[in-house]
Amino acid sequence: MNTLQNLPKPFFVLAPMDDVTDTVFRQVVAGCAPADLYFTEFVNVDGLQSAGRSKLLKKLQFVASEKNLIAQLWGSNPENFRKTAQEIADGTFARELGLPEGCNFVGVDLNMGCPAKSEVKNGTCSALILNRPLAEQIIEATREGLDGRLPLSVKTRLGFSEVDMTWIEFLLSKTLNMLTIHGRTRKEMSKVPAHWDLIGEAVKLRDKLSLNTLIVGNGDVETRQQAQELAEQYGLDGIMIGRGVFHDPYVFAETSPWESITPDERIELYRKHVQLFADTWKHNERPIHTLNKFCKIYINGFDGAKELRERLMDAQSSDELLEILAATQLRATAVAS
Ligand SMILES: Cc1cc2nc3c(=O)[nH]c(=O)nc-3n(C[C@H](O)[C@H](O)[C@H](O)COP(=O)(O)O)c2cc1C
Repeated sequence: MNTLQNLPKPFFVLAPMDDVTDTVFRQVVAGCAPADLYFTEFVNVDGLQSAGRSKLLKKLQFVASEKNLIAQLWGSNPENFRKTAQEIADGTFARELGLPEGCNFVGVDLNMGCPAKSEVKNGTCSALILNRPLAEQIIEATREGLDGRLPLSVKTRLGFSEVDMTWIEFLLSKTLNMLTIHGRTRKEMSKVPAHWDLIGEAVKLRDKLSLNTLIVGNGDVETRQQAQELAEQYGLDGIMIGRGVFHDPYVFAETSPWESITPDERIELYRKHVQLFADTWKHNERPIHTLNKFCKIYINGFDGAKELRERLMDAQSSDELLEILAATQLRATAVAS
């Protein structure tokens, strides 16, 4: 089944962000203003097919209410991609994660863009831009594992050291269901503005080479309005937003209410986030300090925010965090009345 075909045009996607877009944060974003499509954090297939599998499962964890979720994979061994894709498509992973029958991922994405040194040194992720034979083997092995049951996509960059549109042509020759392009090279990391004009060039290549491949553009988008404009300007099927969600958790709303949300409401949103984190990761699967990167989203832009943030970031448990937040809410209510 190809859920991607039924998405609106343009569609809006929450970017995969390691240690950020776990099931908890995806649910928080969906509760504010839902995206049309979500990705898991990238998960290593070589680890999933090893004795360490159970530890990596947290990267794939999701709940039944998360409908349009793509599993993003990375690794180096094509056979492990094949096995993992097969186990995703036949529901093995969803069952292992405790999901009810019929509840599954809607696709598999291959990470061919992560610029991190360790991944590149191992010849994985963005290093595949320079190793087309292995990239091809990985794509074909994953396709074999999926066996037409779920759509296959790739997320990549515009090149490794230089912009290289032959890489995009190569990927388009693989008749993928979707191709997401982060508009920078690996060398550029996140240091220069995304080259949206080149993402537009990729759309023209798609029109020539692989009409059925959906193209999603990504890089520096801060609002849904901006996303809509870029989609129209470059004829894109979808727009992916990553870091923009740190400035506005309602970034997918047609009109975001974020600027007018009161400090109290922001604190309440963080309290809900922490509570969901505590309810989800009961066995310390994610250390408490991973919450710190979210704190500034909510505890920001009001008197005393910096001091409150410092106290919250020092907290050693979710209980402690919840106590501080509840005490702050009580104090605010007392002052107001
Ligand atoms: C903290 C962080 C973690 C990321 N992890 C992933 C990942 O697991 N998989 C992936 O394809 N991209 C990952 N990315 C890249 C984003 O998906 C996205 O391509 C990039 O942030 C550019 O989009 P933006 O400007 O909208 O943030 C990560 C980015 C950040 C900031």
